[in-house]
Amino acid sequence: MTNRITDKIIAIIQNLDENRQAETTLRKSYTIPEILGNLDIAIPERGISPEALTKTIDQVLDKSVKTNNALFMNQMFGKQQSIGVLGDILAVLLNTSMYTYEVAPALTLIEKECIKRLGSFVWKSSETGDGIFTPGSSISNITAMTLARNATFPNSKKTGLFDNLRFSIFVSEHAHYSFVKGALFLGMGEQTIVKVKSDTNGKIDIPSLNKAIGNEVQNGHIPLMLVGIAGTTITGVYDDLYRLSEIAKKYNMWFHVDGAYGGSLLFSSKEKHKLNGIQYADSVSWSLHKIMGVPLVCAVLLTKNKGILENSFAVSADYLFHGDTDLDLGQKSLQCGRRADALKLWLAWKLEGDNGFEGRVDGLMNAANKFSEKINGSEAFELLCLPETPIVCFRFICLELSPGNLNKLNKKIRETIFNDGRILFNYSTYEGKIYLRCVISDPNMDETLMETILTEVTKVANQLLLTKHDLNINTQPV
Ligand SMILES: Cc1ncc(COP(=O)(O)O)c(C=O)c1O
Repeated sequence: MTNRITDKIIAIIQNLDENRQAETTLRKSYTIPEILGNLDIAIPERGISPEALTKTIDQVLDKSVKTNNALFMNQMFGKQQSIGVLGDILAVLLNTSMYTYEVAPALTLIEKECIKRLGSFVWKSSETGDGIFTPGSSISNITAMTLARNATFPNSKKTGLFDNLRFSIFVSEHAHYSFVKGALFLGMGEQTIVKVKSDTNGKIDIPSLNKAIGNEVQNGHIPLMLVGIAGTTITGVYDDLYRLSEIAKKYNMWFHVDGAYGGSLLFSSKEKHKLNGIQYADSVSWSLHKIMGVPLVCAVLLTKNKGILENSFAVSADYLFHGDTDLDLGQKSLQCGRRADALKLWLAWKLEGDNGFEGRVDGLMNAANKFSEKINGSEAFELLCLPETPIVCFRFICLELSPGNLNKLNKKIRETIFNDGRILFNYSTYEGKIYLRCVISDPNMDETLMETILTEVTKVANQLLLTKHDLNINTQPV
């Protein structure tokens, strides 16, 4: 019945690497009516034939973004490792849930091994630590907020927040939005999240942090948790984790490191110094689907202490859990049904070893450094900051334009190139300026591609300056 569909999907898998090379348009710029004109979205009362479904799959493919390409730089994931794809398919074929050892014996041990090995990069010892795979670092961050609350107010597991004093969670102004979502979700209220000013590179400003803690304490709030970011979302830079760990200790705060993006630099002996201080964290978020190219999603929350996840989350449900809470991973997780996301990481790690993982990180950092050197070497561009992770933010410069018009120009450059669909990168506002933001996901990205990107940006900028009515600005092309 479904042979045609099986053949189609097998062909995609078999040609994964070749297809990536051949892709030139990564995103076709269809309008919604154009998509609906070709893709029959409606779910019918009577099912359709496998032949018709195969054609529908073609339409889904045509109208999706090709993210497994070096020129997809729009988000913090991208060119996936082929072995990871196969690992994910294997997990689907096994179709089990990670809540109990009973239904996932090998997979439970695989998840525990991954947690142990990831933890050994954080805490430098495989004897400490625990953790759990989560559906992304947003959920890891929110889970860590719950752990921090329960560590400081153990009664809140029973009585909720009602009996507690107000508390404060300190993050930099460049922290990921998940902390605010967590506060909304956990009934803490948005005001619990104290956003602290960053320096010009985007790292949390320590004097401002000390001042913010002082203010909160003076207002009678309990300093609950301090977050250090290992790889900020916009510029990819690292907070000074060591100094933050000392401040957290001084105020007896839970110290959480959000290493969603930059945690993976721990795999590199050359780069790991950027995370010095992470060994003092109480918990760490880390998404392996970002820098490591494991297919979405593959993320963990690591904890320094064993037992802490069960203490917070274990519940009695004897229709499911009959055994050891250390082996029934569902007792450590917020989820019930849970995918075997560790499998794809484990297969990739086994195939490549620590060396292969280190090579990927070093390759990405070499590419980011090379790309930013090229940007710095041209008067047409301004680099936001030297890359600390494989994120490169820059903007096209035209001295005759006012700051507002320069922003309009850069936004329009991005929009034009994005709509063309061959090179996909994003833009972001940083200290009032719009920057083009490229997240490099191909460790073998060569210099020709970098030149292609910069040539395209310059070409589009000059075209836009010629047709300046689009921008509502008044100057000559450079
Ligand atoms: C610093 C940071 N933390 C957390 C997240 C959320 O991660 P995830 O997409 O794995 O939920 C992101 C996402 O980009 C991030 O940049």
